[in-house]
Amino acid sequence: MTQLPLVIAIDGPAAAGKGTLAARLAAHFQLPYLDTGLLYRAIGKLMADRGHDLDNAELATEFARHLDPEDLKRGDLRGREAGELASRVAVHPGVRAALVDFQRSVAGRPEGAVLDGRDIGTVICPDARVKLFVTASAEVRARRRTDELVAKGRTVDYDTILAEVRERDARDSGRKEAPLKPADDAVVLDTSDLDPDQVMARAIAIVAARTAA
Ligand code: DC
Repeated sequence: MTQLPLVIAIDGPAAAGKGTLAARLAAHFQLPYLDTGLLYRAIGKLMADRGHDLDNAELATEFARHLDPEDLKRGDLRGREAGELASRVAVHPGVRAALVDFQRSVAGRPEGAVLDGRDIGTVICPDARVKLFVTASAEVRARRRTDELVAKGRTVDYDTILAEVRERDARDSGRKEAPLKPADDAVVLDTSDLDPDQVMARAIAIVAARTAA
């Protein structure tokens, strides 16, 4: 019997735990993993480094068209600043369009792939066998992010982080092009009251249910 490729599309707001889950699912099912947020983060960073205006859609689109996968390896893409820059360049339709083929080339691997982002189940991989929408309340996400940063020795204030989380949610969900929203056939996984092991266990059960039959 031929195995169908297993594409797992994971979407959700910032700091809901989707990156951790996506990496764990990819390891578990031995699939390639693409964190699509890195694409937008790299474009935002490259533009900011050169002092460009992030609202310049044409220029941002040029950066997206010429993005080099090597740029995804830079060490400064994971932080809050890059996340904010990413959310700003991600509103431009030209930027999004320029990134579609690369994302679909990963999703089209023979064995399948795990991709996480904001529009994977809705736009990039509408035919994914498994779609998860991983979410948590803004307060829980802000608390987790604050705790993570404090653990790294940073001085941060919960209310500032909560305001950032809400601002990013509003931008990602409110944009015209490919806004953050669950696909009609996505399973919503609210992680507010779950630890990472519980989230993983639920996700594996969802994958099993979706791939049975
Ligand atoms: O998942 P992340 O926090 O690394 O994403 C950073 C920003 O990039 C996010 O706020 C919006 C944008 N993004 C997007 O618009 N579409 C994606 N598929 C992934 C990220």
